[in-house]
Amino acid sequence: MSDYVKIGSLHSADDFIHVLRTLNLSIPCDREVLSGDSAPLAQPIQVDGLTVGNRFAVQPMEGWDGTLDGRPSELTFRRWKRFGSSGAKMIWGGEAVAVRHDGRANPNQLLLNESTRDDLARLREALVEEHRKACGTTDGLVIGLQLTHSGRYSRPDGKPEPRILYHHPILDRRLNLPDDYPVLTDGEVREIIETFIRSAKLAWQIGFDFVDIKHCHGYLGHEFLSAHTREGDYGGSFDNRTRFLREVVQGIRAEVPDLRIGVRLSAFDMIPFRPDPATSQPGKPGIGVPEPFEHLLPYRWGFGVNPNNPLEPDLTETVAFLRLLEELGIHLVNLSAGSPYYNPHIQRPALYPPSDGYQPPEDPLVGVARQMQAVRTLKAQFPHLVIVGTAYTYLQEFIPHVAQAAVREGWTDLVGLGRMMLAYPELPRDVLEGRPLQTKRLCRTFSDCTTAPRNGLPSGCYPLDEFYKRSPQAQQLKVLKRAR
Ligand SMILES: Cc1cc2nc3c(=O)[nH]c(=O)nc-3n(C[C@H](O)[C@H](O)[C@H](O)COP(=O)(O)O)c2cc1C
Ligand code: SF4
Repeated sequence: MSDYVKIGSLHSADDFIHVLRTLNLSIPCDREVLSGDSAPLAQPIQVDGLTVGNRFAVQPMEGWDGTLDGRPSELTFRRWKRFGSSGAKMIWGGEAVAVRHDGRANPNQLLLNESTRDDLARLREALVEEHRKACGTTDGLVIGLQLTHSGRYSRPDGKPEPRILYHHPILDRRLNLPDDYPVLTDGEVREIIETFIRSAKLAWQIGFDFVDIKHCHGYLGHEFLSAHTREGDYGGSFDNRTRFLREVVQGIRAEVPDLRIGVRLSAFDMIPFRPDPATSQPGKPGIGVPEPFEHLLPYRWGFGVNPNNPLEPDLTETVAFLRLLEELGIHLVNLSAGSPYYNPHIQRPALYPPSDGYQPPEDPLVGVARQMQAVRTLKAQFPHLVIVGTAYTYLQEFIPHVAQAAVREGWTDLVGLGRMMLAYPELPRDVLEGRPLQTKRLCRTFSDCTTAPRNGLPSGCYPLDEFYKRSPQAQQLKVLKRAR
C-alpha cells in the first residue's frame, strides 16, 4: 500500500487544509458546513426550464446486473431506489444504458428498446417513489438517462467485440486487434445514430427529463472526439469528429423537440497507463506508469490532451466542444475525465486499485484537484452551462466542506457523487439536514465495485454495503482476489 495520507486519519477540516497545502493543491475547503434552506448546497438551480432542487448530483453508476435481454433486475431496482433516497435532486443518467445489443459493455448492461421500455419506466418510477418517501416531495427532482454505445469496449455476449472508429497504436495492442481489424463504416455509424434517436424518443415517452449522449471514458461517443486519423465524414477535422453528436441531436430535436439533452464528457484525457513491471509483485500490480509514447509524438489519438506531451491536459478543443454544445442549445453538461480502462487514476482517484489497474502513481488528491481545476476553468468560460463536477468521492469526510466551497465559489454548479452513492447513498441528505456524517459508511476507494465486474460479478459496495457484504458473490470475490 502507498504512503499517501489516508483521509480517514485526519481529524478536522484544518488537518485536511494542511494536507492540501503540503501537496500544493488548490482545492477549496470550507471549515464549517451549513445546513438548512440557506445553505449553499441547498440552493436550487434552473436549467432549460427545469429547477434542480439542490446541488448534489448522483453520477451514473452501472451495476452489471441487468437481465440478458437488457431489463433491470432486483439489484438494479435496489440501486436506483437508493439513488432516489439520497436526497440529491439531480440524477444524472442513472447508469449507462445501451442503445443496441452490440454496443453493450457487458451482457448485463441495460438496453433501451421497445421491449425494455416499460421496465425502464418502472425503474424510474421506483426511484421517484423512494425519493418521495425520503424527502417528502419530488419537487426539484430531475432525472436523466445516460445513452451509450460502448464502441471499443463492447462485450455484448461476454467476450470483447470491439467496435472501433480508428486504429489506436496502444489500445489496439491491448485488445489484441490485428492491423486489418475492421473499423465501423460511415454507414454503420449512421445506423448507430438512428438507434440513439430511437432510444431518446423512448426515454422521453417514459418520463425522463433529459437524455445524456455519453461522450466519456473511451466509449464510442468519446472515441469520435479523438478520431483525428479516421477518414470520411466522422473523422479528421473538429467538425467531422463532432458530426456524430450533431446528427444525434438533430435527429432527437426532429422527433422529440421538447426532450432536453445533456452530455457527459471526458473533458481531458491522458496517455494510457499500465503497472510498472519493475515494481509489480505476484498479486500486487506495480505503480502506474505511462505507456511509452516518445515514438507517437505528436500524439493524435486523444481529446483534451496536449499532443506534444500527452501527460498534460489541453482544454483548447474542450472549450470548442462546450461552445458547440451551447450552439446546439445543450446546457446540461457533466464533466469527467480519462477512462476506467486505460487510466483509472485520472478518472476515479483511488487509494486501492481495481484488479486490472495499478498502484496510484500520484496522491489521489492530485487526481481530484486535476478534475476540479478543469471544471473550474471551463465553468468560468461558460457561465450559462449548468455543470456537474466529478471525482469528489475520494474526499470522503471532507466532501461536504469541499462541495460547499466549490459551489459557493462558483467552481461548479453541482457536485457529482459516484462511488459514494454505492457505499453511503444518504450522504447528501445527512449533509443537507445537518447531521454528522456516518463515517463507517464512507467509501474508502477499495475499488471492489470495479474489481467485481472485471471478473464477471455484479458491481456493488462489497466492503461496506451489508447487502453485498453478505452475498455469495462476496465470497467469490474474496476467492478471486486471493487467487490473484
Ligand atoms: C462501479 C462503477 C460504475 C460506473 N458506471 C458508470 C456509468 O455507467 N456511466 C458513467 O458515465 N460513469 C460511470 N462510472 C464513473 C462514475 O460515474 C464517476 O465518474 C467515477 O466513479 C468518479 O466519481 P467518484 O469519485 O464520485 O466515484 C462508474 C464508476 C464505477 C466505480
Ligand atoms: S467497493 Fe465500496 S468502498 Fe470500494 S470503491 Fe466501491 S463504493 Fe467505494
